[in-house]
Amino acid sequence: MKHFISIKDFTREDVELILKRALKFKESRLYEGKLKGKTIITLFFENSTRTRTSFEIAAKNMGGEVINIDHNQSSLKKGETDYDTIINLSAMRPDAFVIRHYHSGYPFFLSHFTNIPIINAGDGTNEHPSQAILDALTMLQAKGRLNNLNVCIIGDISNSRVAKSHMWMARLFDWNLSFFGPKTMLPKAEWLDNVKIEKSLNEALSNKDFIILLRIQLERKSGQSIPSLKEYSKFFGINEKNMPDSFIMHPGPVNRNVELSSSLLDSDGNILITRQVENGVFARMAIFEYCLF
Ligand code: CP
Repeated sequence: MKHFISIKDFTREDVELILKRALKFKESRLYEGKLKGKTIITLFFENSTRTRTSFEIAAKNMGGEVINIDHNQSSLKKGETDYDTIINLSAMRPDAFVIRHYHSGYPFFLSHFTNIPIINAGDGTNEHPSQAILDALTMLQAKGRLNNLNVCIIGDISNSRVAKSHMWMARLFDWNLSFFGPKTMLPKAEWLDNVKIEKSLNEALSNKDFIILLRIQLERKSGQSIPSLKEYSKFFGINEKNMPDSFIMHPGPVNRNVELSSSLLDSDGNILITRQVENGVFARMAIFEYCLF
């Protein structure tokens, strides 16, 4: 039984194995029937389009049953604790939980109350490990390798669980990882032992294999850290005039004309955003296989 909580729990060999299986699943239908007779419970305490749907499609493509718990319709609303919910759902013997929570560390906390694998679908501002895996899959396909990449993440870094998961990924694959964004959105110094802070947008966009743009997370009040979205777009956004010769990624959802101009978002070429979403299904199939077998 393996939980899937944080990229820091994995070796480079673990990640390479998951990516190898995801690539295999993308090119063949080898995944069919692998979750036959298995039940996956999804429990999302925070909104999601991509993550929840792709975990569900992944499980169903593999022949599994998926039960989505709507926390607003559950006994959580009668005052039952989250951990009592997990204890009771575990008694029904599902085969895995997929959990998103607005509190950092919550999937790890809940893992102490069950012996059923918990897959972290994003916890607060802490980590989004399945996003890091699907991003790595997309990078591997675009560039042909994962080692020694030059990667810059631009945006609301301190609120970003994606940036934190990629910091661990950078250690595994020797990336030159850098961050850029408004000073009010940059993390504390103790985070940064393997990360450089870029001094200007020009520098941030120079000689990078991949630029990962992050959303201004209005629901986490990160709009209060900048004067306006228009100003953010002027100083930190990517558009036709400053588009670098790099691949552009974004975990989504994108604020159109804030992190990225609408016309670039709708273009092909070096914009990998829908490819990331497509790869999410195959990455999550490989994560199910890794955790359940
Ligand atoms: N990338 C991501 O986590 O998107 P959702 O919030 O739509 O799941």
